[in-house]
Amino acid sequence: MSGHAQVALELDDIQRGVLSPRPTPYAASYLVFRIDDRAHGRELMRRASAVATSAAGSPSPLGETWVSVAVTYHGLKALGVPHESLGTFAWEFRQGMAARAKALGDVGESRSENWEAPLGTADVHVVFAAVAPDAEKLEAAIDRARTAYHRLPGITAIWRQDCRALPTETEHFGYRDGVSHPAVEGSGIAGSNQLEKPLKAGEFVLGYPDELGGVQTPRPEVLGRNGGYAVFRKLHQRVAAFRRYLKDNATSREDEELLAAKIMGRWRSGAPLALSPQHDDPALGADPHRRNTFLYSRDDPAGFTTPGGCHIRRANPRDAVVAGEVRLHRMIRRGAVYGPPLADSVMEDDGVDRGLMFSFIGAHLGRQFEFVQSEWLNDGVFFGSGNTKDPIAGAHEGHTDFIIPRRPVRRRLPPLPRFVVTRGGEYCFLPGLSALRWLGDLQD
Ligand code: HEM
Repeated sequence: MSGHAQVALELDDIQRGVLSPRPTPYAASYLVFRIDDRAHGRELMRRASAVATSAAGSPSPLGETWVSVAVTYHGLKALGVPHESLGTFAWEFRQGMAARAKALGDVGESRSENWEAPLGTADVHVVFAAVAPDAEKLEAAIDRARTAYHRLPGITAIWRQDCRALPTETEHFGYRDGVSHPAVEGSGIAGSNQLEKPLKAGEFVLGYPDELGGVQTPRPEVLGRNGGYAVFRKLHQRVAAFRRYLKDNATSREDEELLAAKIMGRWRSGAPLALSPQHDDPALGADPHRRNTFLYSRDDPAGFTTPGGCHIRRANPRDAVVAGEVRLHRMIRRGAVYGPPLADSVMEDDGVDRGLMFSFIGAHLGRQFEFVQSEWLNDGVFFGSGNTKDPIAGAHEGHTDFIIPRRPVRRRLPPLPRFVVTRGGEYCFLPGLSALRWLGDLQD
């Protein structure tokens, strides 16, 4: 097959959660299960193939509502997937997230010994994620999902995380989220940046050619094809500390907002600095057709408008000159907020757990998610800024400053504390629907 041919994706076999951006607003739940009895695990997979929503066809009567079913490496083992097959999965997946701590910056407070039980243990086997536009439709989706594990005593529900969009449609630090996502060839879903060429389907769905012309498929093909890897991470956010950092380092209320924008690369409304350098522009921030259509290299190579070290330029340098090939490190993200908001202007921590259930979907755990996390968020060498880290999600230990390029002299903010702490997570495989049936039909 030519590397340039448009590939027809088997949308009726791919789980909807792989390709569809989540609705806005949204409600979501993550349910984690342990398989204690192999036969029940296989029955769970059989039933799950009827519950998981495919990427094809008309939207369900529940609107943008779907259930995704994912299996961890320990889950595949618990189901009795043959050894020869297990060895064909990505080695990061086989190791599991807790073992990847060094690459991910899960050190100090974020280390897996501090994670919420049972995350990071061999008990995490199957993850259901239900997403809907509101709490009522979510309940209906969870009721449907329940039919998959109902009356299976060999399946134990061991963890649950509910997520609810905030009324402000922002994440807890106050920025609009869910803005930027790549276009995937053959998916029928438009990307958010008209200046970015759609990416080859094989960057996100296993079994199709990727940007390098290779095809990654765990074996046997019926198991690997139309699947994807999914990463979920529970990221606790220190909202009061973030607010204090901005306030302590700003000269005025307006300056506080400017610092917030320089740290993110976008104003809180979602309007990018690249298109609105001096002040926020809420109409731009609310406009899905304009707010992500920009590049960096022509107008802002040195980061005078959008600093090279801000969150969105690190996480996706677009066409900026950096070490490496940006198109090999693109990610599909699905963030969902958990926990109640911290009331406006409160500057002291109230002890409540709030944050983001971060999730990544792609075909390449190593060169996509882990690369972005370790090389772009937790290092600065790629754009010539030494060992600096991402100001929002970096694994800070209070050593690195945040630099805002400015004429005649750059502005240097004092060392950043850690604003985000990992509370747990796992690497999963999102099988295609026929792969779920194959898992259900396994025999010893
Ligand atoms: C609690 C932690 C985090 C918060 C609060 C956060 C917040 C945000 C916000 C507000 C945006 C801009 C709006 C959007 O495009 O959706 C964004 C963009 C993005 N974030 Fe994060 N993020 C977090 C962690 C991460 C992590 C851990 C990664 C990667 C490993 C990441 C990767 C990205 C990417 C790829 C973009 C899109 C950049 C672009 O295309 O311009 N984020 N994030």
